[in-house]
Amino acid sequence: MVDNNSSLAAEIEQLKRSRNAVILAHYYTTPEVQAVADFLGDSLALSVEARKSDADIILFAGVHFMAETAKVLSPDKKVLIPCSEAGCSLAESCDAADFAAFKARYPDHTVVSYVNTSVEVKALTDICCTSSNALKVVESIPADKPVIFAPDRNLGSYIQRITGRENMVLWNGACHVHEEFSLEKILELKRENPEAAVIAHPECREYIVRIADFTGSTAAILDFCGRSGADTFIVVTEAGILAEMRKRYPDKKFIPAPPTGSCGCNECRYMKMVTLENIRDCLRDEAPEIVIDEVTRKAAERSILNMIAVK
Ligand code: 13P
Ligand code: SF4
Repeated sequence: MVDNNSSLAAEIEQLKRSRNAVILAHYYTTPEVQAVADFLGDSLALSVEARKSDADIILFAGVHFMAETAKVLSPDKKVLIPCSEAGCSLAESCDAADFAAFKARYPDHTVVSYVNTSVEVKALTDICCTSSNALKVVESIPADKPVIFAPDRNLGSYIQRITGRENMVLWNGACHVHEEFSLEKILELKRENPEAAVIAHPECREYIVRIADFTGSTAAILDFCGRSGADTFIVVTEAGILAEMRKRYPDKKFIPAPPTGSCGCNECRYMKMVTLENIRDCLRDEAPEIVIDEVTRKAAERSILNMIAVK
């Protein structure tokens, strides 16, 4: 397996050079996929990097909405996704036609959408956000202006609690991985490891976020582990991030939080669809490629650029 991985990694390196391609990968992909990436990051950093890149081809080792975001920001580049079925349960919880009807009910609201949405939903959005900048984005909207926040109800209510903002309407969507963490099992781990800090992603349910010592995006969680005085962490987000945590902080201990029994898994099945094999095939064949019609792309681009402009 290790030998097979290293020969695939060598093929990928060679294809990257011959195609002038870069690989951008999210922290939730597998460690072997992360190892062939030129850039590893959270959703915000990945979209900024996609915009900056001067490669001819961007291969996005992540899920579909992330590759779409890269294409929106780099329309002249070829953007490839190794597995076109790699979707996102949160993005899928917000159908564009249903969202348009929802938006029509609140004509005076500013529409804020999380990047975990389809390009069609982004085209209906005034300003995008990621979990890294959602607070800043909402705070950039005048306090008397009502807001629609979509699609993640957990991130939306978290922002609502911090800002105390009552004029926010939330879309009722969620991520299948983050909704499944078990409070009971996390409290049990905490009893066994009283010195451990609980770190959670804001897509988790409110009862998890309330007991967490720190809540933030994947990048913010990673930074927190470095600056925190704690040596042990109970990690309440997708388990792929553990690879980067252990690489950055080899002397610290990371305990993955368990899900409830019903889904049985704290892994994002979509992120795990990206493999070294399909990355190699995708670079070799230059397919599957992300294609977006120009009208939709332009409308979506405005919402993403509005996000990037928030300081
Ligand atoms: P980040 O923006 O924190 O990287 O999260 C992306 C994501 O899909 C979380 O489930
Ligand atoms: Fe989507 Fe959840 Fe997977 Fe993140 S972890 S990509 S929100 S399904």
